[in-house]
Amino acid sequence: MHTSHAAVREQTRFLFWPLAILLLANAASVWAEAPVEAEACASCHGEKGISRDGDIPIIAGASNFFLENQLFLFRDKGRPCAGELFSQRAESPPKPDHCALAADWSDDDIAKIAGYFSALPHQSAEQSFDTELAQIGKAIHERSCDRCHAEGGSLALDDAGILAGQWRPYLIRTLESFRAGERWQEEKMADATAKLSDDDIKALAEYYVSVGQ
Ligand code: HEC
Ligand code: HEC
Repeated sequence: MHTSHAAVREQTRFLFWPLAILLLANAASVWAEAPVEAEACASCHGEKGISRDGDIPIIAGASNFFLENQLFLFRDKGRPCAGELFSQRAESPPKPDHCALAADWSDDDIAKIAGYFSALPHQSAEQSFDTELAQIGKAIHERSCDRCHAEGGSLALDDAGILAGQWRPYLIRTLESFRAGERWQEEKMADATAKLSDDDIKALAEYYVSVGQ
């Protein structure tokens, strides 16, 4: 009897350690401090990735994969570098533009920064909207965008950003960049954005604003 008791205790100890390590690892990720690099973001992207500035995207709660991709794109100059916005927005911008900001980062730095912002809760920007225009946008969305941006572009797990509740001026500007071929996009999305008129872009942005309210 004595030996079997000891065996049970042995077994629990065996089970306990992996479990404890898992719990500790989990707690560490929940309480993780912002990586040092992430401190350079708040002046533009707001506290905890919730931008209060219509020209600057909300980044909290977008998927890890999407955010990582954007930081790689900035590093590789695969999307506009936002030089003008940098000099206008920050009193002393950390770098001349977003590409220069990302240029110093290793793949590991990028993974840490993306992990930090993707774990923060997303929050829509409060914006009023025109119901009629949003309806026009909804029809375009359902025709050309919904298969990759499900539920009005509100799902992080699509790995395609969170469009619902994003700032209107940013949405309009970035759709114009896609249409002009200045920002990397999947070929199938390029087929869809190439055909958009200025009015279509305004209507789509209105729709994504409306989904977030
Ligand atoms: C001086 C202002 C400024 C600072 C500082 C800044 N950003 Fe940005 N960020 C912008 C602007 C402006 C854009 C939009 C660029 C565009 O128009 O394509 C942007 C876009 C992004 C995007 C793309 C989001 C999307 O939905 O496509 C990510 C991700 C991002 N920034 C992350 C960061 C991180 C992480 C930091 C800090 C390490 C940071 N930014 C610091 C201004 C800034
Ligand atoms: C074939 C799939 C696909 C289609 C169709 C598509 N998209 Fe996308 N979209 C994506 C992916 C993937 C991304 C993320 C790209 C990246 O990682 O840089 C994206 C990114 C975006 C972004 C940038 C989000 C941000 O936060 O910066 C906007 C805005 C957008 N799409 C709007 C649209 C609109 C509007 C349409 C329809 C006219 C459309 N997309 C059609 C796959 C698609």
